[in-house]
Amino acid sequence: MQTIENLNARYAIAHHLSFKESDGLIVAEIDNAHATASICLQGAHLMTWTPKGQQPVIWLSPAAKLAPGKSIRGGVPVCWPWFGPHPTQASFPGHGFARTVMWEVIGAKALKDGGTWLAFRLVPTDATRAQWPHPCELVLQVVVGNTLDMDLGTLNTGSESITIGDALHTYFEVSDLREVAIHGLDGAPYIDKVDNGAQKQQAGPVSIYQEVDRIYFNTGHDCVIEDPAWKRRIRIAKLGSRSTVVWNPWIEKANKMGDLGENGYLNMVCVESTNAADDVVTIAPQQEHHLWVRYSVEALS
Ligand code: BG6
Repeated sequence: MQTIENLNARYAIAHHLSFKESDGLIVAEIDNAHATASICLQGAHLMTWTPKGQQPVIWLSPAAKLAPGKSIRGGVPVCWPWFGPHPTQASFPGHGFARTVMWEVIGAKALKDGGTWLAFRLVPTDATRAQWPHPCELVLQVVVGNTLDMDLGTLNTGSESITIGDALHTYFEVSDLREVAIHGLDGAPYIDKVDNGAQKQQAGPVSIYQEVDRIYFNTGHDCVIEDPAWKRRIRIAKLGSRSTVVWNPWIEKANKMGDLGENGYLNMVCVESTNAADDVVTIAPQQEHHLWVRYSVEALS
């Protein structure tokens, strides 16, 4: 079992990385030449990433609660080994268990360019094995620099194929969602979860003025969140993901959820790099699958 003391003894790096306690959970705090970031060991949940001199890029709810076994509202929840409700077991947690169980740190180093690399591995337990009885290893690698890179790798260590759904369910911070446009999904077919799962096709950029919960398909290329008030674009590049989820609960659902903060729904949008719905991934024995993203910020003149 990793403790703050042994994590700091083994992995802390001056001017890069230290481990702290927050509400009973362990959080890796990164502060390097490019950015600050924090990652909770429960869920390997990246909570914040703020490039130096900029507004936060990743949104963490001001009302987020850190508690054992509970998913944190905001940041980058890791959804695995299924996305959304479990296909057959209604009692299994939505978006899988990876975001609420303990992970361990397996590596950290300072990079030559001033960035910081960290790697985490999910710690299997009897409870996780009861929901996912397949031998495999899940590793999240994170590079905190002037881009944020995340690589979620699933290694099938067994002798039979496995089929997973997964997602980096990222909450991006925006000035005011009503002023924002999401580019990169034009022409993509999607399932509209707030219209009884109707199948539709995107025309032009996505603008959001009400609850949105959509799974877009055939979306291998970049998405860009254009935020004129903050004069920036957030670029989302990805590999190993053929679907994209766009989600915002809007006011009524946000109020019921209780952990989005007052008007928090206007400051966030989830643009999730996923393997969702029919877009699942089959991994042959001894093979691996990587879901990789790179988030970067571009100035908008
Ligand atoms: C999105 C789903 O990915 O996550 C939504 O498409 C869901 O249907 C949302 O409401 C938030 O999920 P959770 O479990 O974090 O509240």
